[in-house]
Amino acid sequence: MKITVIGSGYVGLVTAACFADLGNQVLCAKKTSKNLDKLNQGISHIYEPGLDEILNRCLDKGTIEFTNDIKRAIDFSDLIFICVGTPQSETGKADLSQVEDVARQIAENMTDYKLIVEKSTVPVNTHQWVKKTVQRYSNGNIQFDVASNPEFLREGTGVYDFNNPDRIVVGVESENAHKIFQELYRPFTEKGDVLLITTPAAAELIKHASNSFLAMKISYINMVAELCEKVGIDVNMIADGIGYDQRIGRSFLNAGIGYGGSCFPKDVRAFIKIAEDHGLDFGLLRETEKINSQMRERFLEKVENVLWINKDKNITIWGLAFKPDTDDIREAPSIDIVRKLYETDANLRLYDPQAGENFQNLFPENENIRYCSDKYEALKDSDALLLITEWDEFKNADLNKVKNLMRLPIIIDGRNMFESEIMEGFEYYSVGRENTNQSEKP
Ligand code: UDX
Repeated sequence: MKITVIGSGYVGLVTAACFADLGNQVLCAKKTSKNLDKLNQGISHIYEPGLDEILNRCLDKGTIEFTNDIKRAIDFSDLIFICVGTPQSETGKADLSQVEDVARQIAENMTDYKLIVEKSTVPVNTHQWVKKTVQRYSNGNIQFDVASNPEFLREGTGVYDFNNPDRIVVGVESENAHKIFQELYRPFTEKGDVLLITTPAAAELIKHASNSFLAMKISYINMVAELCEKVGIDVNMIADGIGYDQRIGRSFLNAGIGYGGSCFPKDVRAFIKIAEDHGLDFGLLRETEKINSQMRERFLEKVENVLWINKDKNITIWGLAFKPDTDDIREAPSIDIVRKLYETDANLRLYDPQAGENFQNLFPENENIRYCSDKYEALKDSDALLLITEWDEFKNADLNKVKNLMRLPIIIDGRNMFESEIMEGFEYYSVGRENTNQSEKP
């Protein structure tokens, strides 16, 4: 099938590349010419494992192309995916101006039937606004449908998640739209993947409900972690114990410094606002947010309890991205941690395998902030190592080398990366687990 994808951010790029890799003919439109040449050479501007090789494979096959010519993109196909950003506005509501802008451009340029698909995360009933906008700005007698097809891609595993969906959710209002999606997703239904057909409003709501539930699950285990720390029980044991119950499931029960990213914080806040707009109070999600921000505060308290004074302490931070296998730092816990430690005059040595460059835009290097190109270099004469993102290369670090490089063998682990049994010779602190003070030094 021919497919137009409008938006070349994380969702648009992964969606365009993976549809092209399935043999569809895809034209991906972006607003500006920035990065356009690189994309047409197979170099993506985001770090997403596996994406570049898919782009190169599809460019070689001629099944994908990138353009900033929106008119050409709209003419290219009768199936148009809207994959633009819906960032959080100051009020907490989703900012839908980019969605409206695309809807208007489609209306002003379409010359025949279009199936216009919301893939961006949007509040319930946004499809009605898209429909009204297209009616208002088109010449009125051209047939079109608006549908919702939310994505459930996780950064760092987007390609895998696209090709191995737990379910594909499609909200349609016409038989024609239904048929188009059945053809598009045939490669998935033929291998047994679930294609859930519903209404556009339900599909829009499923997305917010899904992300908010996952965020709530994380805050739930972090709430339990606080109690575990008081009573000396390992929270991971509790997560295992409840997670074996199929009705609960073990995933997303990893206690730690909490969630970040471009989705959970934004989607939880938007869902609360959607409820408010309908006269409802989603107190459960307000608590979810509160617990999540408390986890960062608790972590900083732990640092001060361990170090007493932060001023002039050499503090190493491993991990700046909001999660492993991405360079994305949006709403990352590291931002609050670095900001507070910087404000209390610590000497910071920062390292992340991918996110250092992005982080420097927020916290430029200066006499108190140094970016290191190697995790061990960041440890020289360090008084404490803070673990903020659970990259595999940290889990596999040589702990003897870590101990010998540091001035004080103190590790404060925000992601419970290590088991206390192997922390011989360290003061090791983590989340929801007993602290161990096994350092030989007095
Ligand atoms: C999320 C949803 O998982 C995905 O389905 C949706 O399409 C987009 O939002 P993403 O934000 O990319 O994906 O990453 P995810 O793996 O969900 O992690 C989100 C945050 O939760 C990260 O900061 C991660 O560190 C944190 N997290 C995750 C926990 O703190 N504990 C966990 O057990 C799992």
